[in-house]
Amino acid sequence: MTASNSPRVPVAVLISGAGSNMAAILDAAGAADAAFEVVVVISNVPEAGGLTLAAERGVPAVVVDHRGHGRDRQAHERAIQAVLEAHGVEVVALAGYMRLLSPWLVAAWEGRMLNIHPSLLPRHPGLDTHARALAAGDAEAGCTVHLVIDDVDAGPILGQSRVPILPGDDAEALSARVRTAEHVLYPAVLDRFCRDSRRP
Ligand code: GRF
Repeated sequence: MTASNSPRVPVAVLISGAGSNMAAILDAAGAADAAFEVVVVISNVPEAGGLTLAAERGVPAVVVDHRGHGRDRQAHERAIQAVLEAHGVEVVALAGYMRLLSPWLVAAWEGRMLNIHPSLLPRHPGLDTHARALAAGDAEAGCTVHLVIDDVDAGPILGQSRVPILPGDDAEALSARVRTAEHVLYPAVLDRFCRDSRRP
């Protein structure tokens, strides 16, 4: 990690949708003793609701639309990388960023890129986690914050939060319960990660 005089680690949040985790991260960044500040929010989807939430909070919100790059995934990621560098980002938080990353971008941010996944990894990587947890008869569900590696929803686990699965739960009810837990877990893990990264 680059040495910096800034007491707060400059963080980028990458989104594709509603951005409720991003909003929780922005709220946490407002704490007087936060270890990080969000210097830019990037969305690959121009219509992402999170862009408005970020702009309302006065955080630069940038669209890097993947559709302009056709099948050239790395060209899109180079455009993202340019925004990250322009804002002096040191840590990237994926928060509902719905595009697979190429090994190139993952390598560029090795050990400095976090993701949140709505299951207790290693159980239920990928999509439709809540329906799969219910179908499997799991007694509990939860969410995981992990470092991003060149494998989907894998990488060293930095923190997990567990919630019960209750009788009568459907995927929607379970998703809402997990999402509430995500909003507590992600800012807390990100803050600890950034605090630790500043230690000599
Ligand atoms: C969250 O459930 C997160 O775990 C998953 O995508 C969802 C994003 O939701 N990776 P939001 O955009 O933060 O509301």
